[in-house]
Amino acid sequence: MDGFKVFKQSIKETVNKAGTFKTLIQDEDFEIFESHVHSGRSIICQPYECVDALNVAFVVSGRLYHTNTGKYILPGERFTFKNLTETHHMSVIEDTVLFMIRRKGLVEEQMVMIESVSNLLHKIQQKDQYTEDHCNRTGNLAVEIAVHMQLPEETIENVLYTGKFHDVGKSDISAHILNKQGRLTVDEFDNIKKHPQSGHNIVMKEMDNEHYAKIVLEHHEKLDGSGYPKGLKGDDICIEAKVILVADSFDAMTSDRPYHEARSAEEAIEELRSYAGIWYESDIVEALAETIQRRKEFEK
Ligand SMILES: [Fe+2]
Repeated sequence: MDGFKVFKQSIKETVNKAGTFKTLIQDEDFEIFESHVHSGRSIICQPYECVDALNVAFVVSGRLYHTNTGKYILPGERFTFKNLTETHHMSVIEDTVLFMIRRKGLVEEQMVMIESVSNLLHKIQQKDQYTEDHCNRTGNLAVEIAVHMQLPEETIENVLYTGKFHDVGKSDISAHILNKQGRLTVDEFDNIKKHPQSGHNIVMKEMDNEHYAKIVLEHHEKLDGSGYPKGLKGDDICIEAKVILVADSFDAMTSDRPYHEARSAEEAIEELRSYAGIWYESDIVEALAETIQRRKEFEK
């Protein structure tokens, strides 16, 4: 029976907060994975990981939302990617199981990036479950807005990564302040306002990436200069930070927190529109409104 083998266990199994990832087969040229990914997470396909190689994924159960086309991918469907010219992003809407056949070995650059983002997310996880969930949702929404606005590929990729860890600086703030019921004192709010600078310092230390650190630093700056920490205005704020601010504000308004009840998506959009051109870029607010509308239409 040369050449025939039965495998009873996976070759490698990784369990983390994103799900369970099993390597089932490793050949000279390709690998087969079984992935169980939790809702709220993302699946990302990037141009440099599939040059000249066809990658295939079969969805067994669950539901994915393909941000680039605004379409759901359902059980029984499959997707392929080869010679991509842009990053493709999928939000995991329900816990999803998929089998994936892909070219062996991710390129070094992506592995380093995934590890760095995971390290930063781990810092957030240790602090506060809400902040971690909020970062995941904000990251997914921000990238949907960026794709909808047809921003340059590099900008979308920056939003994709930094959106996921934009609040990493909150790992330096006490849980008591983060989860306090009722109004914060002036001192406590001053403490909260330090998180963009702390986040900047953490990103520089962990990733040594000045642009990512700048995005994290500027994610609470507002067009009219009333934001923090520097009070930057208009074009002095980078586009990625402006997109994250809108996604971040929408997610905060539509989430239950100790100090306020969740508002509906419509109420949150109305509130964001009332500050369009003052705090937020108007075209980003409208892109968010269209993104939320599109999500709803596909959910019908
Ligand atoms: Fe923040």
